[in-house]
Amino acid sequence: MTGLLAYEDSRGSGTPVVLVHAFPFDRRMWRRQQESLARHDVRTIAVDLAGFGDSRTMVRHSVDQHADDLVRVLDHVGATNAIVVGLSMGGYVAMAFARRHPERLAGLLLADTRSSGDTDDAKQGRAANIERARREGSVAVFDAMTKAWPSAPDPAHVAEMRAIASDQSAEGVIAALEMMRDRPDATPRLAEIRVPASIIVGREDELTPPPLAEIMARAIPGATLHVLEGAGHFTNVERPAEFDAVLLNLVHRNSD
Ligand code: MLT
Repeated sequence: MTGLLAYEDSRGSGTPVVLVHAFPFDRRMWRRQQESLARHDVRTIAVDLAGFGDSRTMVRHSVDQHADDLVRVLDHVGATNAIVVGLSMGGYVAMAFARRHPERLAGLLLADTRSSGDTDDAKQGRAANIERARREGSVAVFDAMTKAWPSAPDPAHVAEMRAIASDQSAEGVIAALEMMRDRPDATPRLAEIRVPASIIVGREDELTPPPLAEIMARAIPGATLHVLEGAGHFTNVERPAEFDAVLLNLVHRNSD
């Protein structure tokens, strides 16, 4: 299906910032960033990727099709380009966007993500999660993932993310697991990126640990790397002030 994604447009000024969520969530995971950037009059557009949130009728997209969906949103709002921010799965989509639509990319922030494709072990993990989603639903997949959170997670953050995860359909979650399993290695094309770029990672992120962030930071010309101490896999939720400072800096680098 090639419909239009659901999205939340904060309607600030300047180049919009497109916020692409992690798995298995939706655009609500960006509420802190939307509020904070609005205070700086920066326009943010938080999307629900196909299969998630209010885009749940759109399923079975490849990572490239997800990237193309973002372009349709830009066309719809009349934006020539955007700063694209992706966390984890959102980062996979953001890298596909950079590869497929470089002329629409004004800046790139990759958080708690990796450029490499799935290893054989990871593919086996996808199969287990597909089975889990089929039998027990989306929240069981989230519960299996929370080991990627730091050792003493804030229970309020876990509860917030779990509530978003529990709203997702098993079909959407399974389609995304298949998409992530089949995505290509994005590393070889990172050197072609020609826009301001920043990489953020939580020091305690066990799912996409700092050495993976370093690979991306080395590969993208001029990229800055920010390791947030004490944070795990969801830096925008766990350390919003630091996350937003990096993002605002990227916005300002873009407008300089
Ligand atoms: C995410 O946080 O989006 C996912 O854990 C990414 C993945 O499973 O590869």
